[in-house]
Amino acid sequence: MSVAMNRQKKVTTHVLSEMKHNKEKIAMLTAYDYSLAKIVDQAGIDVILVGDSASNVMAGWETTLPITLDQMIYHGASVVRAVNRALVVVDLPFGTYQGNSKEALTSAIKIMKETAADSVKLEGGAEVVESVKRIISAGIPVMGHLGLTPQSIHKFGTYTVRAKQEEEAKKLIEDAHLLQEAGCFGIVLEKIPAKLAEQVAKELTIPIIGIGAGSGVDGQVLVLHDMLGINQEFSPRFLRRYHNLFAEITGAVSGYIEDVKSVDFPSDREQY
Ligand code: KIV
Repeated sequence: MSVAMNRQKKVTTHVLSEMKHNKEKIAMLTAYDYSLAKIVDQAGIDVILVGDSASNVMAGWETTLPITLDQMIYHGASVVRAVNRALVVVDLPFGTYQGNSKEALTSAIKIMKETAADSVKLEGGAEVVESVKRIISAGIPVMGHLGLTPQSIHKFGTYTVRAKQEEEAKKLIEDAHLLQEAGCFGIVLEKIPAKLAEQVAKELTIPIIGIGAGSGVDGQVLVLHDMLGINQEFSPRFLRRYHNLFAEITGAVSGYIEDVKSVDFPSDREQY
């Protein structure tokens, strides 16, 4: 099969598992809206995460906590309408699954029904295992998220690297195994030492996707707006910027303002 044909094949959780098995790295990015999701999907990304980082990126909140289930569903449905190939994962937002496993299942079902996404993601280890099992038993694929878990920012107090100490590293490894045993199809590891992330990726059979977790994992995820350089304020060490859209957009908007003020726009050819 040619590369071009292969690109059109819908990515499933089974495909991701095969990619890990074949040592093919998985490329994942966030998206929150139809227009950008369409570009990202057509460019050939494997997984699109409708992350609760929408709370920061789209709504301007300082943390991911304020975003609601209905707001996540709005973003998720917009992305799903644009995507042909990528696997779409939608984050369960803060407060919609931590109560108990019944609440978690109800929230996951609402996301699946109202977005038509392929799967959900939630943060945490042992404390969410019962919820993970209950969601999976309803036929919904679940991705885990360990390490820096932004929904718990008020518990930790900072966004610094996690699991540097032995005890926290040991708990992270145990949690990763628990999530795999519970049936998660993959786990995001955020901002932890590269060696620890590599160890988890080696021990587990499911794909491990890193963000600030080094190169020894099965794939990488970045926030789209960060890697495109739209967001200027956020510059963690793990972020590689592939563009400076902030400068490009500023230039375009400045040019438009100038043209409107000088009545250069619209020209004769741009009116009826
Ligand atoms: O919400 C998000 O964008 C995420 C990524 C940082 C993994 O969870």
